[in-house]
Amino acid sequence: MTNQQDNDALTIAAPHFIGLLMEMEHQARELIATTDKSAEELRILLLGPKSELGKLTKQIRQVPPVDRGNVGVVVNEVKESIEKALQKKLSAISDQLSAPNDWFDVTAPGIRPPEGHLHIVSQAITEITRIFERIGFTRVRHPEVDWDWYAFESLNMPPHHPARDEWETFFIDYPGKPPASRADLERKEQIVLTPHTSNGQVREMEKGSLPIRMINIAKCYRRQLDVSHTPMFHQFEGLYVDKEVSIGDLKGVMDFFFKGYYGPDRVSRLRPFHFQFTEPSFEVDINCGVCLGKGCKLCKDGWLELGGSGMVHPNVLRSGGIDPNVYSGFAFGWGVERVAMMKSGTKLDDVRLLYSNDVRFLEQF
Ligand code: PHE
Repeated sequence: MTNQQDNDALTIAAPHFIGLLMEMEHQARELIATTDKSAEELRILLLGPKSELGKLTKQIRQVPPVDRGNVGVVVNEVKESIEKALQKKLSAISDQLSAPNDWFDVTAPGIRPPEGHLHIVSQAITEITRIFERIGFTRVRHPEVDWDWYAFESLNMPPHHPARDEWETFFIDYPGKPPASRADLERKEQIVLTPHTSNGQVREMEKGSLPIRMINIAKCYRRQLDVSHTPMFHQFEGLYVDKEVSIGDLKGVMDFFFKGYYGPDRVSRLRPFHFQFTEPSFEVDINCGVCLGKGCKLCKDGWLELGGSGMVHPNVLRSGGIDPNVYSGFAFGWGVERVAMMKSGTKLDDVRLLYSNDVRFLEQF
C-alpha cells in the first residue's frame, strides 16, 4: 500500500528537480544583487515557507527515494548560497564599497580629509597678542573706518599739514547728518579708511583709565598697490602711558617682543626718525636672522627695518585729555605682514600673494 502511494507520487525526476533548484538559485542571487529591497524582505521572499523554493522543497517527496538524499543535499546548498548572498547584502560596509572581492582590510590606514589652517596673518596676530599679554598689554580694537580727527588731527597733524602725505589715505565724504555742534563739525568733518593703527591712541586715552597698556591690531588702508604693497594690510600698535615712562621702557618692551617672536639671538636698535605724534621718534631695526648682523644678501648691512616708534608727543596726550606734565608714554606701530614674513625668512617677491587666495601658496605657512 505504502509502495503504491509512493509510486503514485513519483512524478519528479531528480535531475529535473536539481535543474529547478539551480535555476531558482540563479534568479535569487540576481535579484539580491540588483534590487533595493532590504535583506529582511528578501529573506521572506526567497527562503520563507511561501517562497518558490519553499514550495519546491515540499515536493521533494515526489523525487524517487533513492535520489532524495542527494537532492536534499542540493536543496541545502542552494538555501545556504542564497543565505550567504543575503548576509553580504546586510553588511553595510561591503554594500558601500561594492568591492570586487568581498573583504577589506579593517587595519588599513584611512584616508584623511583635507585639513586647513589659519592664514599666516591670523597666526601672526594671535602670536603677537600672546607675547604682549605676558607683559600686561591687552589687545583692543578701534574703528578701521574713523574720523580724520583720530587718524591725523589728534595726532598733531592739523589739516593740510604736509606730514599727512606720507599716509596715502582713502578719504570718504561724510554720509549722513553732519555732527551736532560746530566744534564737532570742524573736528569730525571727514572720514578715512584708517591708514595706520595710531587712530587708536587717542581713542584709548579717551576711555579715561590709566595706566594704558594696549595693543591695537587692525586692518589699515593706503592707496598703494605694487609688489611690496597691498591697499589693505594690518598693523599692530602698542601704547603705554603711565608716570615716568622712558625710552628705556620702550627698548625693553621691544626686545621682549623680538626675543619672544623671533628667538633669543635677535636684538633691536633705534634709529632717529621723525613722526608728528612722537618726540623723539625712532625707526626700529632688528638684526638680520640670516647673518645675525654680519651683513648678507638679504639685509646688506646686517639690519632689517621693522617700523616706527617713539615717545608720545605732549600734544597727543593733551588730545586724549591726559596731562603731559604728569604722564608720559611710548608708542609703536608695525606691519603684521612685514613682521611675519621676516620670521618665516621668506622674502616674498610679491606681497600681493598673501591676499590672492591661492591655496598652493598659503599651504606653505
Ligand atoms: N603710525 C606710524 C606708521 O604707520 C607708525 C608709528 C606708530 C610711529 C606709533 C610711531 C608711533 O608709520
